Amino acid sequence: MFIVNTLRKSLILAASFAALGAYNSAMAEMVYKPVEQPVEAPNPNLKIEAVNEKFAEKYPKQFQSWKATEKGDKLIYADEEDPRLIVLWGGYAFSKEYNAPRGHAYAIKDVRDILRTGAPKTANDGPQPMACWTCKGPDVPRLIAEWGEEGYFNAKWAKGGAEVVNSIGCADCHDTTSKDFAEGKPALRIARPHVLRALDHLNNALQAKAKAAGKEQPNLSFNTAARTEQRAEICANCHVEYYFAGDIKQVTFPWNNGQTVDDIEKYYDDIGFSDWTHSLSKAPMLKAQHPDFEIWSLGMHGKNGVTCIDCHMPKVQDADGKVYTDHQIQNPFDAFDSTCANCHDQSKEKLKDIVASRKKDVKDVMGRLEDQVVKAHFEAKAAWDAGATKEEMEAALMDIRHAQWRWDYAAASHGGHMHAPDVMLRVLGSGIDKAADARTKLAAILTKHGVKTPVEIPDISTAEKAWKVMGIDIEKERQAKEEFLKTVVPQWEKEAKANGKLAEDSVTKQ
Ligand code: HEC
Ligand code: HEC
Ligand code: HEC
Ligand code: HEC
Repeated sequence: MFIVNTLRKSLILAASFAALGAYNSAMAEMVYKPVEQPVEAPNPNLKIEAVNEKFAEKYPKQFQSWKATEKGDKLIYADEEDPRLIVLWGGYAFSKEYNAPRGHAYAIKDVRDILRTGAPKTANDGPQPMACWTCKGPDVPRLIAEWGEEGYFNAKWAKGGAEVVNSIGCADCHDTTSKDFAEGKPALRIARPHVLRALDHLNNALQAKAKAAGKEQPNLSFNTAARTEQRAEICANCHVEYYFAGDIKQVTFPWNNGQTVDDIEKYYDDIGFSDWTHSLSKAPMLKAQHPDFEIWSLGMHGKNGVTCIDCHMPKVQDADGKVYTDHQIQNPFDAFDSTCANCHDQSKEKLKDIVASRKKDVKDVMGRLEDQVVKAHFEAKAAWDAGATKEEMEAALMDIRHAQWRWDYAAASHGGHMHAPDVMLRVLGSGIDKAADARTKLAAILTKHGVKTPVEIPDISTAEKAWKVMGIDIEKERQAKEEFLKTVVPQWEKEAKANGKLAEDSVTKQ
């Protein structure tokens, strides 16, 4: 029913494109038509123990190695390192603060600390919705089971403050109530209903493509998939591209056409979705999240069935020679002997060099694309200021949307230079083409309206300057956050402890 509906919508779109016969019609069609999807009711049969410390005694090796994710404590302020990000996300909360990921133990602390979540005082204050907790820990599937998807998603972020308190842990990946788990077996499980649905859609899309090409495609539907696929899919709980759909802001993965940059772009264009309107260019923008699973599956290791677990959660031996899974998810080079060296003969230095040089190549092209898109945003603003019309601007704004989408799909995929460097370079290369298309169109519009080119780009050489240019009062944001962390967060923790939802000796960074 739902697939038929989406298909029908894209047929209508395709027909109207053909009828108008102009690329310009794309924007006219950019009216958001949410996909139809189920909203699951509470599921009292699903019992989830989210307090990670409760598993410490029975599974000491897994617990201790999981706790060691707290060693990955380096916080990298990405927008301070690269102030162009502040311009690219102009008008969107991401331009206030954006950090590189770190150890799983910090997930709760970091989502509270970041300026993007603001400083709510009551459960009904914004700015963000509940959806922002969704990849932070096992309290999330617990709440979705208790409250249903509507009860969980359809509220402000602060509603979850005293509930989502345990960082990414055991029940995010395991059916901790199963007989298998009690016997020390993994019993891998996905308990978030939107993730199970998304994997079914992806499976449908890829099976159809494989059939058309006469190729084999492994089953990706989690509950019937082979263990190899499941081992990567538990990371797809969170390390994926997603958006907040409809009025209830339901987390949804845009995988109905597949997982490439083009498949997902088409999905968003077909339903007319945009995350926000850019404050300078007024382009209808997309924010990519972190398509690590998508990019990995398109790369050499993904295609060969080498999963996230082989590199990030290797099997190791304890002092007695007993094998267990190392739960300290980290950079695999820091555990080289039990990761890469299981399959490759090359030395650590040699492989590290290869990965470092790919990172440099990817970063270089990424930087060039960023420069182009930053210029396009300022040029579009200059065109609007000179009196350009909506009709004149539409096609160029769609090019900006697509160029920045391509940049972000690559930039937000942490580790993409390792997981699939060829894919990254192709995505970025196509982004440079889109940016060039945008700037060519803008040059013609600027000339028509008598604007002298090149358009002057303000000084954005530091984050402080860029925040100022983009109208962000960063000091005000920081003060409000400080107050929130001093007053509201301790209340959340007190309440969670009193309700038995957070261990007194919690190792989650609070
Ligand atoms: C991000 C996902 C993830 C989290 C979080 C996680 N595990 Fe695991 N766990 C795995 C994977 C993957 C395996 C290995 C599966 C395989 O071998 O196919 C595993 C294996 C296990 C096993 C089976 C024995 C072994 O070592 O291979 C146990 C027991 C276990 N984990 C306990 C825990 C406990 C206790 C926690 C919480 C402190 C936890 N896990 C957190 C993913 C996770
Ligand atoms: C429940 C959601 C969730 C699941 C499941 C999950 N992650 Fe994460 N992961 C995150 C979040 C959120 C962060 C960033 C935490 C922060 O910076 O505060 C992160 C960070 C990371 C990092 C960066 C660590 C560092 O020290 O820099 C790696 C690597 C990673 N995850 C790999 C994995 C792998 C591999 C799996 C599957 C075995 C997995 N994750 C499963 C949500 C998740
Ligand atoms: C073949 C080994 C391999 C596989 C398979 C693999 N990774 Fe990685 N991953 C790495 C390496 C190595 C790095 C660090 C690259 C570097 O040092 O520049 C990395 C980096 C990352 C990072 C960024 C960490 C940071 O701090 O920026 C994340 C997140 C991540 N991987 C998640 C995943 C997920 C999720 C999967 C599966 C969908 C996966 N990886 C599969 C080897 C692998
Ligand atoms: C479970 C086995 C396995 C593990 C673990 C593994 N690899 Fe691989 N690797 C493969 C396979 C299989 C291929 C594809 C070989 C081929 O067909 O050429 C490959 C290919 C490669 C290539 C060449 C292909 C390319 O991307 O251009 C590099 C480089 C590489 N691996 C690096 C690493 C690094 C670094 C690590 C550890 C972080 C690692 N691998 C971990 C199995 C593994």
